[in-house]
Amino acid sequence: MCGIVGYIGKEKNALKVLINGLEHLEYRGYDSSGIAYILNDKLIVKKEPGRIMRLKETIDFNNDSYIGIGHTRWATHGEPNKINSHPHNSEHITIVHNGIIENYLELRKELTNKGYSFKSDTDTEVAAVLLNDLYKKYNDIIKAIQEFKNIVKGAYAIAILCDKEKDTLYAIKKNSPLIIGTSEDANYLASDVPAIIEYTNKYLTLDDGSYAKITKDKVEVYNNDNKLIDLDIKTFDSTYENTNKMGFEHYMLKEIHEEPTVVRRTSNIKTIPNISKYKKIVITACGSAMHAGLVGKYLIEKYANIPVEVEIASEFRYKKLFIDKSSLVIAISQSGETADTLEAVKIAKKYGSTTIGIINVKESSIAREVDKVIYTEAGREIAVATTKAYLSQVEVLALLAYKASKEKDLEEIKKFINDLNELPVLIDTIIDNSNEYKLISKYLYQKEDIFFIGRGIDYALCMEASLKLKEISYIHSEAYAAGELKHGTISLIENGTPVIGIVTDKTIADKTISNLKEVKSRGAYVIYVTTDKLAKKGDFYDKCIILPDINPLLQPLLIIIPLQLMAYYIAKEKGCDIDKPKNLAKSVTVE
Ligand code: AGP
Repeated sequence: MCGIVGYIGKEKNALKVLINGLEHLEYRGYDSSGIAYILNDKLIVKKEPGRIMRLKETIDFNNDSYIGIGHTRWATHGEPNKINSHPHNSEHITIVHNGIIENYLELRKELTNKGYSFKSDTDTEVAAVLLNDLYKKYNDIIKAIQEFKNIVKGAYAIAILCDKEKDTLYAIKKNSPLIIGTSEDANYLASDVPAIIEYTNKYLTLDDGSYAKITKDKVEVYNNDNKLIDLDIKTFDSTYENTNKMGFEHYMLKEIHEEPTVVRRTSNIKTIPNISKYKKIVITACGSAMHAGLVGKYLIEKYANIPVEVEIASEFRYKKLFIDKSSLVIAISQSGETADTLEAVKIAKKYGSTTIGIINVKESSIAREVDKVIYTEAGREIAVATTKAYLSQVEVLALLAYKASKEKDLEEIKKFINDLNELPVLIDTIIDNSNEYKLISKYLYQKEDIFFIGRGIDYALCMEASLKLKEISYIHSEAYAAGELKHGTISLIENGTPVIGIVTDKTIADKTISNLKEVKSRGAYVIYVTTDKLAKKGDFYDKCIILPDINPLLQPLLIIIPLQLMAYYIAKEKGCDIDKPKNLAKSVTVE
């Protein structure tokens, strides 16, 4: 999603800081970028569609500027062209925006009737024109912002430059992330920490409805009730990670290789709360985080005997909910900024439910909103396709299920802890086996459709494996509950159609194997993914991937690794932009 960066300082190096900041926000996904800055008392706007490199080529970095704003745009209103790119200017006001102005059409009509005209198709230009109109009315930006907040509906993080106040930045925040970085010689605005971490580790977060006035040596923040508030300046963890590829060709591959370390870091069972007192649990999340939730559902229901519903966060927001004070709502999110998941948490709180967040990014919006946060310790994840963060989410859910499971004797506890300790080593051996997955990928990459089938928890893993494959390789893929195939999907099976069957649960292994036989006899190319104990000879598959057995609570953590690697190698064979798949964003901050 869109990224924002802003700079005002004593040193006149705004251009370098802005571009560097935008490059650090590239991971969020974008299709154009732009900056606005003051040079010799004049406002300059530069913007270009495509990669930041194109924008860079238009900038003379020898020019001195001490104030500016920058933006990476992930198109929502209007195609990703130069005109629709940010910054947007209207007379005195120039802005960059992340979010969606919901009533922009209505506002555009009103402003057109007032005599304004528009160049772009964006909701952001409407916000710029409205702010300019209000600024002219009050001749005071703070007053304009206050009225803007009353008029505009939707989500917005906005950085503002005004040509009449060339030594001040303004910012407004509602339901989209925005932080202010502070230091001795400069102050910053950013959507996320990486954009400014090179310059300062001091920052403050803005609450929804608040806004700020920022000069080179002063930050003033006003809350939703327009009261000037005390600044709560925090310090980033000084060990904030280095984000280079460490010799790997892609971040995704690097992040898969980090998985043994991540599971070791996340495995601290002492930090896991006991959720056994809840009668009902609802897990809400989006995409892969929701798939982790589905694995969690099977584990918590089986081991802790508590009913669990998994609701896609964008559905949770608009459906009739059956939760109350006695329910636990678990929100899962890598970024901690996913707009739908954040809103789901706010709704759950209104129902009086307890909320737990399983979150990767420290101090993110969801981490701050939930009653209790469990951090997944995956470290920074740059590739848009999540791997290590998903794995750590599944691990936390397995730990929650284990902790809430009924009476365990000492022997059992010891065994579980041993298995947990063994996990990183087993993951390492699976990754070491990458050649096997590379070979299969060489066969699969030219296929047009790939199906995944499984039952129960294996079906939940199929959903994640299928998503991973399609998001980075653009191959059409579907995950199916194995028993459901013959109710329709089996008609899609042709000679050579790959069907990957995941079989890890011995109580239903034979059932899924029967389904694999059904597709095999219709010409499918079957890949049987299973564990040592369930491996068997037979003519129902063409290839077999056998993984080590471990405590069933932890088994999903091993099964997904070869499937992540296969998605990676298939996308690589196809020459795809693996870390930045088209149309996708790492942090989905709009609804
Ligand atoms: C995963 O590979 C995806 N890119 C996506 O589905 C992601 O998991 C989803 O957008 C949720 O993000 P979050 O974990 O940051 O909330």
